Amino acid sequence: MKKKILMTRRLHDFAMKELQKRYQVVVHDGKIPMPKKLLLQKIADVDGLVCFPYDVIDGEVIESARNLTVISTYSVGYDHIDLQAARRRKIRIGYTPSVLTDATADLTVALILDVMRRVTEGDRLIRAGRWSVIFGPHDYVGSDLHGKTLGIFGIGRIGQAVARRAAPFGMNVIYHSRTRLSKKIEIQLGVKYVGFGELIRDSDILSIHVPYRSDTHEIIDKKVFRMMKRGAFLINTARGKIVNEVDLVRALKSKTIAGAALDVFGSEPIGRDHPLTKMENVVLAPHIGSSSEETRRKMAEITLDNLVLGLGGKKMVYSVDV
Ligand code: DGY
Repeated sequence: MKKKILMTRRLHDFAMKELQKRYQVVVHDGKIPMPKKLLLQKIADVDGLVCFPYDVIDGEVIESARNLTVISTYSVGYDHIDLQAARRRKIRIGYTPSVLTDATADLTVALILDVMRRVTEGDRLIRAGRWSVIFGPHDYVGSDLHGKTLGIFGIGRIGQAVARRAAPFGMNVIYHSRTRLSKKIEIQLGVKYVGFGELIRDSDILSIHVPYRSDTHEIIDKKVFRMMKRGAFLINTARGKIVNEVDLVRALKSKTIAGAALDVFGSEPIGRDHPLTKMENVVLAPHIGSSSEETRRKMAEITLDNLVLGLGGKKMVYSVDV
C-alpha cells in the first residue's frame, strides 16, 4: 500500500506529479495557513508532511500524527517546528538551506540599496504626483554605501554571502555570531569579528542573519536601538520576531535610527494599517528572500527529495539534526 502524505499547500507541478505517483497525497487547498483544527485532523494518519515556514508544527500537532516519520519543510528556517517533540517521536526533518543563500543575500543588498538611496520612497512620491521640482541639491538625498560599516549579525551561509557582496561596494564589514569563523575564512571574506555591543554601536547598517530561537527572540529591542548610531539602518531578512516591532516603530519615529528595510515581520502578512506602512524611512517586502523563479524551483526539488529519501529510510539531502 502506498504511503500517505499531507501537503499544507501545493508545490510546483513537477513535484506534485512525482509525489502523486509515489504516495497517496492529501493537499490542503483552502485557507492559508491551514487552520489548526483541520491540520490536527488531516495529519492523524499520514506518514509524511510537506509544510511551509508559516505552518505551526507544535507539540500538539506532532503528538496527534500517529504515523508521521518525516517532515519536509519548504524553507531554510525550521523555527516553526517543535524539534523536541519531533525528537521524542523520532521524526526526521528535512529543510532547504544552501539553495536559497544567494537569493536571500541578493535581496538583502537590494534592501540596503533601496532604503539608503530612498528608491521605493521616490517611487511612492512619483506615483502620488508629488515630484514637482527638478534636481534640488538637497532633494531626496540618501546615504552612500561605500566607506560605511556593515554589521552582520549571524554569519552562517546567508550572512557570509552578504559579506561577499559588500566588498565590491567598498563597505567595511564586521560581524557577530555564536560561532566565530576561522581566521582563514575571515581573511577570505574580509570580515572582522566583534562583540555584540561593538557590532551594534559601530554598524552604519545592521543586517540580521541569525535564526529565530528563544535566545534571539526580540533581541533587537529598545536597548539596542539606543546603542545604534543615529544615522544607522536596520535590515531584516531573517525572522520578524528577532526584532521588537513596537520598539522599532518608536526608534524610527523618534529618528533614533535612520531607517529600516524589512522582508519579515512579527506576524505575517501585515496589512496596510500596520504602523510600519505609515513611515517614509522604511522599505517593506512581503517575505520574498528566497523568491526567485530558479530558487523556488530548487527549494521544491529539495523538499521533494528530502521527503522521498526520508520516507525511504535514506539520508536526506539536508536534514535538521534533532
Ligand atoms: C525560509 O526559507 O525560511 C525563508 O524565510 C523563506 O524565504
